[in-house]
Amino acid sequence: MPKLGRDSIPKKYFKLATLSNDPIVWEAKFNVGIAEIDRQHQDIVKLANEIQDSLATKTRKSGFVLEIMEKLEQYIVEHFAYEEGLMGNTRYPGLGAQKKEHAGFMKYVKELQEQYKNSIIDIRQILRFISSWFIDHIQGSDKRFAEWKSKL
Ligand SMILES: [Fe+2]
Repeated sequence: MPKLGRDSIPKKYFKLATLSNDPIVWEAKFNVGIAEIDRQHQDIVKLANEIQDSLATKTRKSGFVLEIMEKLEQYIVEHFAYEEGLMGNTRYPGLGAQKKEHAGFMKYVKELQEQYKNSIIDIRQILRFISSWFIDHIQGSDKRFAEWKSKL
């Protein structure tokens, strides 16, 4: 059983990266009420599930895995830019904290990828971490923004 590097990931996030084959099922309560953001969040979880699914059913070379991981990462970078842009445009006071959370997340993903390359962890742990982190982040930080924005 591959181990996740406990040293590099804060405990709060470590528990999110359990090894699992179960897809994340999107629930209505995950929607924040801003259509474009909800669509992007759903796409990220869907893409992570699809990658996990393809890993479970097909034998893939590690080069392929890294390639699709990069695709997912790119999508996430674009999503963060969109969200931060919207927060900036509306002068959201929590923008700085959001940026910090987004940057922190990207750092963890990079660390996990390094661990994957060094065969310390399984790719499913990265996908699980990404999906779980998003669900956590959406229900906390992003919902706070949506609530604040709805009062404008
Ligand atoms: Fe966010």
